[in-house]
Parts: sequence; structure tokens; C-alpha cells
Amino acid sequence: RRRLAVLVSGRGSNLQTILDAIAAGTLDAKIVGVFSDKPDCIALTRAPQHLRWSRAAKTYADRRTFDSELRDAVAASQPDWVVCAGYMRILGSNFVQRFADRLINIHPSLLPKYPGLHTHRRALEAGDSEHGASVHWVIPELDAGTVIAQARIPVLPGDDAQSLAARLLPAEHELLVSVLRDAVAGQLALPGPV
Ligand code: GAR
Repeated sequence: RRRLAVLVSGRGSNLQTILDAIAAGTLDAKIVGVFSDKPDCIALTRAPQHLRWSRAAKTYADRRTFDSELRDAVAASQPDWVVCAGYMRILGSNFVQRFADRLINIHPSLLPKYPGLHTHRRALEAGDSEHGASVHWVIPELDAGTVIAQARIPVLPGDDAQSLAARLLPAEHELLVSVLRDAVAGQLALPGPV
């Protein structure tokens, strides 16, 4: 079975969805490691048996050392795919280059719209009539890699950032698992040079 390394920083609902899909037999893969820059995050309580490495980034004197240690820990798990599932720290190029052909991220906007933070609020402020999530290849530039697939939802009258995020979340979960199914089946086309 294909080997997944999962990077998390927060609530871990995307990690939970991956775990559930594997348990239900709808995703033919196995998790070989969960990695985090937030040792106290809720995500790590969802699959303690898979926790391989978590360090608070702020305890490192420089970014490069953190990134190199994370890279080495992920590499040691011998992943076929590295999945950023609510991983909220920018990955350095020494990490990205190591896993470039198997590194994907889920982001809560219809990229190229709204890279970075506060995507729901920004979609509302722009008056968008639809919002969504994207799974994309990770490159050193933040949220700028080639988009693999997107999920779309309507923005409804009366939506605030919270209601929009809540309505998007199930669509995100479905999107991520669907891309992972293609990935483990060898059906994701590698991006060309960007
Ligand atoms: C998700 O909405 C994900 O798209 C987003 O963080 C949330 C994590 O939720 N990711 C980013 O913003 C990446 N820049 P989760 O911890 O419950 O999976």
C-alpha cells in the first residue's frame, strides 16, 4: 500500500478524514507518519500511534535547521506522498525540493485567489459569489503550485467567515480524499516546470 506522511498544525479534521477513509477501505493507503510544528495541537491526539516528529518551530534559532530536521524525519518514514493537511508553516525550499514530486497541500480558497491566511474573510470582502478549496502541488512560493483539483461552494446571503468555513469543510475533506485516491492509484500527472 502507498505510504502517506501527513503534516498537521491544528485541529486535524483533514487528517481524521484520511484515517476514516483508510479504515473504511475507501482509500488504499497507509499512514507512515504524522509530523507537526505544533506539539500541542489537537491533530496529534487523533492518531497518536502515527506520531513521528513534532517540534515547536519557535524553539529553533533558524528556519533552515527546523526545515532540515523535519525533512529528515519525513524522509525516514519513506513516504510515497507527503500531504500538508492543515499544516500552517511555510516549508523551506530544502524541504520542498526533496519531496517535490510527491508533495501536496490543501488550501481553503479557489487558488490562485487568496493564497495565505484569512481566505474566507477575503472571499466575502471581495463579494465573491462562490468560494472553495484547492489541492495543489507545493512549490517554495506560498500556495502557488499547480492546482490539481478544486471543490466549489456558493457564498450565501448572510454568510460570515465562520459559516463559510463550516460549509466548505466537508467539501474540503471529500476533495482531499479524492485527490489522494488518484495519487495512490498513480493517476496524478506531475506538474511541468513552473
Ligand atoms: C483547513 O481548512 C485547510 O484547508 C486549511 O486549514 C484548515 C485545517 O483544518 N489549510 C490552510 O489554510 C493551509 N494554508 P484541519 O486542521 O481541521 O484539517
